[in-house]
Amino acid sequence: MPVSFDDRAKLFHLSTRNTSYVFYVDNSLRLFHLYYGAALRDAFPLTGQQPDFWPASFSPVVNGEELSRSPDYRLQELAGFNQGDFRPAGVVLQTANGAVAADLHYFGHRVIPGKPRLEGLPSAFAAEGEAETVEITLRDKAAAVEVILAYTVFPACDVIVRSARAVNTGSAPVVLERLLSAQLDFDEADFDVVHLQGSWARERHPVRNRQIPGGQQLRSVRGATGHHQNPAVALCRPDTSEEAGDAWGLVLAYSGDYLVDVDTGQYGTTRVSAGINPETFSWTIEPGAAFTAPEVYLTFSACGLGRMSRNFHRFLRSHVISPRWAFKQRPILINNWEATYFDFNAQKIIDIARSGAELGIEMLVLDDGWFGKRDDDRSSLGDWVAYSRKIGDIGDLVRGVNHAGMKFGLWFEPEMVSPDSDLCRAHPDWVLQIPGRGRCLGRNQYVLDFSRDEVVDHVFKMIAKILHSADIVYMKWDFNRNLTEVFSPSLLPARQGKVRHRFVLGVYRLYRMLLAEFPDLLIEGCSGGGGRFDAGILAYSPQIWCSDDTDAMERLAIQTGTSLFYPPSSMGAHVSVCPNHMTGRTVPFATRGYVALAGTFGYELDLTKMSPEDRATAKEQIALYHRWHDLVECGDYYRLLPERLEDVEKARLVAWSFVAPDRRRATVTFVCRSQLVHAPDPKVFLRGLDPERLYKVNYGKFAYELVGGLLMSAGLRVRDCNRDGAAAFITLES
Ligand code: GLA
Repeated sequence: MPVSFDDRAKLFHLSTRNTSYVFYVDNSLRLFHLYYGAALRDAFPLTGQQPDFWPASFSPVVNGEELSRSPDYRLQELAGFNQGDFRPAGVVLQTANGAVAADLHYFGHRVIPGKPRLEGLPSAFAAEGEAETVEITLRDKAAAVEVILAYTVFPACDVIVRSARAVNTGSAPVVLERLLSAQLDFDEADFDVVHLQGSWARERHPVRNRQIPGGQQLRSVRGATGHHQNPAVALCRPDTSEEAGDAWGLVLAYSGDYLVDVDTGQYGTTRVSAGINPETFSWTIEPGAAFTAPEVYLTFSACGLGRMSRNFHRFLRSHVISPRWAFKQRPILINNWEATYFDFNAQKIIDIARSGAELGIEMLVLDDGWFGKRDDDRSSLGDWVAYSRKIGDIGDLVRGVNHAGMKFGLWFEPEMVSPDSDLCRAHPDWVLQIPGRGRCLGRNQYVLDFSRDEVVDHVFKMIAKILHSADIVYMKWDFNRNLTEVFSPSLLPARQGKVRHRFVLGVYRLYRMLLAEFPDLLIEGCSGGGGRFDAGILAYSPQIWCSDDTDAMERLAIQTGTSLFYPPSSMGAHVSVCPNHMTGRTVPFATRGYVALAGTFGYELDLTKMSPEDRATAKEQIALYHRWHDLVECGDYYRLLPERLEDVEKARLVAWSFVAPDRRRATVTFVCRSQLVHAPDPKVFLRGLDPERLYKVNYGKFAYELVGGLLMSAGLRVRDCNRDGAAAFITLES
């Protein structure tokens, strides 16, 4: 039973294949956390193992309750506010009398099979028998609010999904100042914190630091997740490595302002909490109404960060990303952005398509510049009608590309509007703006007020019209700036705290409308590269353009960092031209291909200008894709080098592998960033193979037969790969 309840101790034990999550209701009817870690057969003895404490005047106890039990140091499932726990709260309510507090008591629970979907939000799903849910109802009597904590257990993936919902059961409106999705308390405070950070074109580099006294926060007030940090975190022990040691992971499925808070308490406790960022949020719940906070995915691994990542990969692919795409090979695409930028016409696009079809590329994506009168980034966002003077009739263009042997995809930026656009002239009030204040431009554009249904409906109609007008099977959904001047005239002054979350709900609604109208449409997410790379977007977009930096050497840190939480099959990765437009670096064409083959694969260069040698190499890359890429979609991913993930930004050697679920096939990609002169060939220790199985190992001119155990214990010596930018794509078969 994934969810069991011990009536004697009022103890909940959530069990996955390798983990246990335990909490209970104490005599005061509060919900206290006990344990999250390796699987326990019997959780009951934990109740006698809680820390007791002395009654301290500065850590108060609730009148009439046991003196040694202050809420200030006990482990809670979701903490209230203004009731004796001074650590960060999970719930904060303001009632009609102006009081700001929250004190939650257990009222009841129910266990239900499967996984209920969250309304309006990205939501994990489960087939019959794959998951079980327990919903715990807590009550704040004074505020007449119920908070329902949902826990869905996915035993096979070692993942627990949490979310929270607040219901106003009273007769007056209540303001929700904060409702985080989940909280994870520990009675230890000696962890390493691993997370992702960077900037535009340098997003999601992995960082590992010792837990900071006082604590640390990952946050966004950008209206999107952002390039700077990501709404996901791992805690591990200082000696945890890729392959060994305890690691706890948390991924928030949300695409707007978020908070991931790692708080170090004064009594040696740690509180990790995550959810919508309360800094920019307040939500009035009318009597009888409810508010639902987004989902958080939790996992625990006793086998290092590598297993933690694989748990998330398996979970996201099986239970979040649409089954329409999750385990399928996506079309190999050629995107014209770095090939032409804004400077193209129909003939140029058809030429690229023909040239790509000869190589075996399957889809052409027409990027920015096909609409309105857009010849640069100063106009036309919002005018989603074809720029016929530039590209002719879009139907003819799509047919031309199809005729050349390719599918067709198109770029949009739905939430945006250029000041110089028909849309902005017709509806200047649809732009996010604060009366009496200036408006920030970002890349010469404004943001539309997606908190308003009529705005989202209008954008949907325009996009749907284009998609209906021709055989367009793919959409690149871009988002090239962040939100400023967030205010909506459609809401009362006291309701402005809703705008940012309503904006995100508007984005999700547009996604759902498009996918309902075009169920086979493949939507690739994008935000100036990976500025909105999160599990919320993944629920609708099976792949997200990983970064605007297409330099293969730069991609090593970006893609490896991203893999900490997200599956490689969700990372848009393309081969681009050298010298690279961003860095000026030149990397061998083969290496560029091997690095891009670790994500969704494609090209982003002018195919009509490629050398015959590069064309021959591209054909080989495409053959590798067809032969081996099922391992990226369905296999297990192992980070092999550098030994410490956080060293990847500077590491000389980087290697990873994909192993088939039946362990009969595997690939290893090995990249040498910079040569170590006059040094022996490097060795890489493989992972996840069948130790007894004999593998045929092949790369370049090298072929060996080696047993799995040896490849993992003694390692594989990689020949001919000690030069700047050299790489090997090693295949293993048995
Ligand atoms: C963003 C994307 C790029 C490209 C441009 C077009 O920066 O990340 O891939 O689509 O917009 O303007």
